Order: sequence, then C-alpha cells, then structure tokens
Amino acid sequence: MTPGEYPNPIDPFAVLIDLEKGTMPEHTNHLVRLASDMRGYYADSRALESLISGDADPLHYEVFEIPVIPEQAGQLMYCISKLQPGKIGDEFFMTKGHYHTVADTAEIYLCLKGGGYMLMKTAGGKCAAEKMARGTMVYVPPFWAHRSVNTSGDEPLISFCVYPGNAGHNYGDIEAEGFPKRIFERDGKIVIE
Ligand SMILES: [Fe+2]
Repeated sequence: MTPGEYPNPIDPFAVLIDLEKGTMPEHTNHLVRLASDMRGYYADSRALESLISGDADPLHYEVFEIPVIPEQAGQLMYCISKLQPGKIGDEFFMTKGHYHTVADTAEIYLCLKGGGYMLMKTAGGKCAAEKMARGTMVYVPPFWAHRSVNTSGDEPLISFCVYPGNAGHNYGDIEAEGFPKRIFERDGKIVIE
C-alpha cells in the first residue's frame, strides 16, 4: 500500500502522560470500573458484596485513552491502565481481562508504577504470569487473553499499553470462561494457583 492508498491518514501528534499520577490529562475516554462491575470475577463473591453497600461502590480500575480514530489496521491505540490496590477476600484486585476481538493482535504493557502480575491465557488452555514492576515491559502475543493483577498492597498498578488500532476488546469470552489461575495472598505470600 502506498501512502496515497492508506485510508483516513492522520497527522503526527504528541500527548502528555502523567507518569506519577498514572493519568493522561487530555484523555477523551475514561473507562471506570467500580467494585459492582466486577461481580462474577472473584472467587469470593460474598467478600466482593461486602465492599458494596448503601452508597459505597469503590473504584476498582480506570483506563485513560485518546483513541486514534478510525480504529484501523496500521495505526496504534494506546492507553493508561490504573488498577487500585486491595483484595477481595484473599484474592488481589484485578482487571476483567480480555482477548482482542481481532484475536491475532498483540499488545505491549509497560509498567510505570506499582507492582503485580500480568496473567495471560490462551483458549487452548495455556496460562502464564509475568511479574510487573516499574520498567517491566510485558509482551502479550496474539491470541493470549490478558488481565493485570495488583499485588503491591498499597499503591496503584499503572501501565502504559499499546496495541494495533483494529484489535478491539472481547470481554465476553473471559466473562464466560475465566482464567485457570488466580492470585492470592496466603500467610503473607503471593500465591498463583
Ligand atoms: Fe488488550
């Protein structure tokens, strides 16, 4: 494809990322997941419900994004993911996790702050966990679902993510099938089982 044939070309741009706060001040999309959005994801659903009562529905994680529009092959999408610290029972806070709608698309997560794991799985039953700390880059290959887990205990897990513009998000399959492993704190130790 020549430059003239590429559809919907855009001009170069630059964006500020607040590395300390884990935000993108000029963001145009702000995805907010509250505790109530996480029903069905944790092993101990009663512990999750105990967080949600009356007006209480604490923040779980956020995604800050400025989409590159249209979301098409050849472009790159990017975002900041900010996952709060905490546990549901003895299971560490995590994101819902997803495959990409266009499943043969990869993603890069660069951890900016905090600590935890990137938990990954394939539909064929493989599972992997990569430790994340400031400066760690995790490469999520095509066909691997991915979810971040905050094991730091006291600070948000903040990552910068980059993925193909046409990748999309498939949450439904993970909502239905879950991950084969979870990450818990047992006797003060991080346990993946
Ligand atoms: Fe992704």
